[in-house]
Amino acid sequence: MRRILLTGATGQLGYELMQVLSLLGEVLALNRHELDLAEPLSVRQVIRQFKPDWVINAAAYMAVEAAQKEAQRVLAINTQAPVLMAEELRKTKGVLVHFTTGYVFDGTKSEAYEETDRPNPVNAYGLSQWQAEQGIEAAGGDYLIFRTGWRYSLRRTNFVVGMKNRLSREEEIQVVDDQIGNPTWVKQVAAALLILLSREGLETGYIACKKGLYHLASSGKTSWFGLAQAVSDCLEQQGRTRLARLKPVTTLEQGLSVLRPLNSTLSSLKFEQAFGFGLPDWRLALLQCLQGTDE
Ligand SMILES: NC(=O)c1ccc[n+]([C@@H]2O[C@H](COP(=O)([O-])OP(=O)(O)OC[C@H]3O[C@@H](n4cnc5c(N)ncnc54)[C@H](OP(=O)(O)O)[C@@H]3O)[C@@H](O)[C@H]2O)c1
Repeated sequence: MRRILLTGATGQLGYELMQVLSLLGEVLALNRHELDLAEPLSVRQVIRQFKPDWVINAAAYMAVEAAQKEAQRVLAINTQAPVLMAEELRKTKGVLVHFTTGYVFDGTKSEAYEETDRPNPVNAYGLSQWQAEQGIEAAGGDYLIFRTGWRYSLRRTNFVVGMKNRLSREEEIQVVDDQIGNPTWVKQVAAALLILLSREGLETGYIACKKGLYHLASSGKTSWFGLAQAVSDCLEQQGRTRLARLKPVTTLEQGLSVLRPLNSTLSSLKFEQAFGFGLPDWRLALLQCLQGTDE
């Protein structure tokens, strides 16, 4: 029976993981109030008390705009806390599973980013995630880091949920068309992780021999406008009428105050070769998600 500590249990990914991790062992799933990653001492204390075999860190400071003004807090939550987890787990030969983002890149590459491409974050959020990746690797224990794409589910606030609501209420919605990425359904990320971790159950040492950094995102790519259009198409297929008109705009026209990579598309080839499967096309996943009822 493995002992699994899950952080960020109320987040998009944390929620999905909570549904499946109990298949693999005894789960201690903590939300922000039960374990605040901004308090490094409490992170250490929980790990020392619970003595997990695996820590799955699904918590993060996610507000890209606000992160620019809260550099210390972002660093504590997104960098120092996961690095501390990695250091603690090295001592007990535990495994850290951590999630980062394509926002570690500057977005100037024309193709999908691979794990061998050099990060060059353009904002504080991306920088905090890159520093976490480096710190976890330097800690020298066993870890899996997954950089994922633009994540969505039917829970919480995210682009897909927001667009679904706005399409029914508004006349016209302007959506950025020059930022591209891989929309990724968190339920499929959780399912992929379940597969990997259950292999460790069959073959001890499986994760240690696969340890490293992987891109894990739906295949295919699109812009925020393309994703909005696909949400609209799905709603139309479901018989919804009088949906808002979508108007493509550039990042410049949108006037966002914080720089974002124009291309954060991830190639998941390394993951597919290492583990023998990948995530389906983003359009198919979106359709399945929007047909679901698990809000
Ligand atoms: N969302 C994306 O598009 C995306 C893309 C790439 C990578 N990722 C990575 O995926 C991971 C999870 O993302 P998600 O999509 O599940 O985001 P999410 O739904 O916003 O979940 C983030 C979770 O972190 C928790 N959290 C925030 N500050 C915390 C703190 N100080 N202490 C403890 N917990 C705290 C939040 O708590 P509350 O529930 O109280 O708010 C929430 O449960 C992150 O590592 C993120 O970098 C996300």
